[in-house]
Amino acid sequence: MSEPCKMKVEICLGTTCYVLGSFRLSALEEQLPPELADRVEVAGAACLGLCKDRNYGKAPFVRINGNRVVDNATIEKVLDALKEELEKCNE
Ligand code: FES
Repeated sequence: MSEPCKMKVEICLGTTCYVLGSFRLSALEEQLPPELADRVEVAGAACLGLCKDRNYGKAPFVRINGNRVVDNATIEKVLDALKEELEKCNE
């Protein structure tokens, strides 16, 4: 059997993201549903550099597994993205 899939979530705590609401995302870890709870590692991060690039949309930003960016992030949006990622790694 292969290793269970693990995901890493970085919540940007740089000034722009923080002011625009990333501080609200600190509750994410407590709100992870059981299927995600032991697979997701949540960490705060310094400015991810995304707020300076218009291509990425609007702060606050969350990055998943170092490559997927959730813009205008809310707990619901991040949970949806995590569920999609989980399906991909279960394939
Ligand atoms: S402050 Fe979040 S990407 Fe810059």
